[in-house]
Amino acid sequence: MERSGYHRRGGAAERFDLAHSAILRAGAILRTARLEAGNIQEKTGHQDLVTYWDKETERSLRQTISEAFPQDAIVGEEYPAALDGGSGVSWYLDPIDGTTNFVSQHRNYAVSIGCWRGEAPLFGLVLDVERQALYSAVSGEGAWCGGKAIRTSSRDTTSRLLLTTPGVLHTFLRPSPQRDGLIRLAGDVRGVRSLGSVALELCAVAAGEADLFIALRSSPWDHNAARIILAEAGGMASRLDGAPLPVMERSTVLAANSAQVHKRILMDYCGL
Ligand code: IPD
Ligand code: CA
Ligand code: CA
Repeated sequence: MERSGYHRRGGAAERFDLAHSAILRAGAILRTARLEAGNIQEKTGHQDLVTYWDKETERSLRQTISEAFPQDAIVGEEYPAALDGGSGVSWYLDPIDGTTNFVSQHRNYAVSIGCWRGEAPLFGLVLDVERQALYSAVSGEGAWCGGKAIRTSSRDTTSRLLLTTPGVLHTFLRPSPQRDGLIRLAGDVRGVRSLGSVALELCAVAAGEADLFIALRSSPWDHNAARIILAEAGGMASRLDGAPLPVMERSTVLAANSAQVHKRILMDYCGL
């Protein structure tokens, strides 16, 4: 698309360019980052980690964004939200999505940057740091991984669908209104995988490498970039009760490769 088109939309192109260089810079730093035991802390418990690098990456992204766009709101995982200074634009930052993977494996973690004007998506960027795979989408312009356009799969039959979920404990083991249906779904699909990163798992559905995604708890910084990529790739996402996925609140998530599959899974397995 012509850059002038972006300009008419109020600086989305400049913001995209800024985010694009910032996410690549963050990835390059994280790839060489080394962790010492003292740099890892528990937040709410032993399954909820934060490292020096989560904080440092988010600090640096916030600084880059707020210097260029001081009137934008910034919502990130590791620092209190910076309120909308009048532009109506909000950034959603997850400096490391998959911190446990970063700590234990040093792979399968992402930097995630989503940019919205109120409830309207502008663009999303998700960098699979170690694979150096950059997923991106500008609203209305399609979805990309590096230089290649991506699409969701066309698989439809439930027994051929691959389901990915970042939190096996919460999805299948903890009590929830949908638990019985989700356990039945796990038995009906081709298989269940867990990568441990909401953003990368949603991008896997966007790229056709998985067909369904379920999370019982996901925060705006986890999914607000990848959901734009998924939608632009032909996928569909909502809450598990079928309500629209909120932009500002924590939520359950059901994502699928198509609106048709999404609707069928909601009806057959989520009690709708
Ligand atoms: C977490 C990961 C994980 C998911 C959690 C998220 P973090 O994000 O995406 O896979 O199960 O719900 O909070 O803490 O690594 O940024
Ligand atoms: Ca996260
Ligand atoms: Ca994080």
